[in-house]
Amino acid sequence: MKIARFSRIGFILAAAGSAVGLGNIWKFPYIAGQNGGGAFVFVYLITVFMIGFSVMLAEMLIGYLGRRDSVGSFEELAPRHKSLWKYGGFMSITGLVIMIFYSLVIGWIFHFIVLSFGPLPSSVSVAKETFDALIAADIGTQLFYHTAVFMIVTAVVARGIKGGIEKLNMILMPVLFGIVGVMFLYATTLSGFGSAWHFMFTPDWSKLTSDSLVTAVGHAFFTLSLGMASILTYAASLPKGSNLVKSSLIVIALDTAIALLAGLMLFTFLYEYGAEPSAGPGLVFISLPAVFYEMGALGNFFSLIFFVALASAGLTSAVSLVEPMVQYLIDRFGLSRFKASLFSGLFFYLLGIIALLSISTEYGKFFTFGSKSFFDWADFLTASVMLPMGGLLMALFVGHIIEKERVGALLKRELGAFYSLWYFTLRYIVPIALVIVMLNLVGVFTL
Ligand code: TRP
Repeated sequence: MKIARFSRIGFILAAAGSAVGLGNIWKFPYIAGQNGGGAFVFVYLITVFMIGFSVMLAEMLIGYLGRRDSVGSFEELAPRHKSLWKYGGFMSITGLVIMIFYSLVIGWIFHFIVLSFGPLPSSVSVAKETFDALIAADIGTQLFYHTAVFMIVTAVVARGIKGGIEKLNMILMPVLFGIVGVMFLYATTLSGFGSAWHFMFTPDWSKLTSDSLVTAVGHAFFTLSLGMASILTYAASLPKGSNLVKSSLIVIALDTAIALLAGLMLFTFLYEYGAEPSAGPGLVFISLPAVFYEMGALGNFFSLIFFVALASAGLTSAVSLVEPMVQYLIDRFGLSRFKASLFSGLFFYLLGIIALLSISTEYGKFFTFGSKSFFDWADFLTASVMLPMGGLLMALFVGHIIEKERVGALLKRELGAFYSLWYFTLRYIVPIALVIVMLNLVGVFTL
């Protein structure tokens, strides 16, 4: 099958667009807050550059050498047992399951963009009421925005790699970088900046638990978009002769930079106005709006650009969550891109409606299984089970299945002296770390 190619800068922006998402701006600051700050950030950074880098390079390699959709690339590269290994490629379903809740969260962000134009909540408790009213009772509003996200994402993916995904990223990524940059610079002028810096970069090792280690590994996967063929599928459209190591490092550097800048900026605002850094998932939807209120008119402006940045980050990640399945449907069943996009879109759209009902007060009981709502299940199953499994599979595949010579031929030149270190990490350290994560991640990333 002929796949349209990214331009080089288009690929970097698209892969960075995939990586930089709600995970960076919404989730990273609150899990750093909950896990005591500095020590957690330190572990997270090590994990990202050791395990994250190893797996990203492996995932890119499968797509780049395989040149097909996720299933086809495994088939293409497995020397033996092709029919067995190709099942690995079904990990692209994970993206649609993530989209079930991801789309709803982007919808909340759209709603908060609109709210930025009106009066902001005058206290944390008012802000909490506003947010709770939205997710627990306002099914109509959420459905409206969920539908909008479905339409935007489907339309972009239907336009393909070049005309849709690359273009979206070329527009939204600079917007995102610009806004985070401006808000960060403003934050550096406030007195709370020192406390934020101290909180993020002064490790207090006593705060570090085994749970936070596991959280760090799980989050490294989520934030770098690893384990479900987003990066693999994008890399299948890389121009020949691209440098995979350089690309991975740039994507990881951008992703880390945005997470750290967003974290510093949020904590500065929170310290400046006396809010709590450990507030949890409600941090950007509850604590932050109350902080914006304190800033007066400037607060409305900041609220607007902040949620626009968050929506940009979310949308560029969303298309990367859907594209692997679309590529698969096209490659395997010869579907038109339009139909493939529509089917994939409808999958997360319809299940998303169930997720939406599952967190409402009125219908929640019909869609709660065990102690978790359907929303929480989608979130938990992907982050704790499906992504680590996908990552483990790709690490094992590149580390032990693809012929050594083939991997070496491509990467020895790019990695130089670091080649053996990377290969060893991928073969042994990553699988062991991932098995530990799978056994322990229970209960992280719940809303
Ligand atoms: N990385 C994105 C974030 O931080 C989410 C995301 C996009 C993702 N594609 C993915 C997560 C693939 C795991 C796998 O929000």
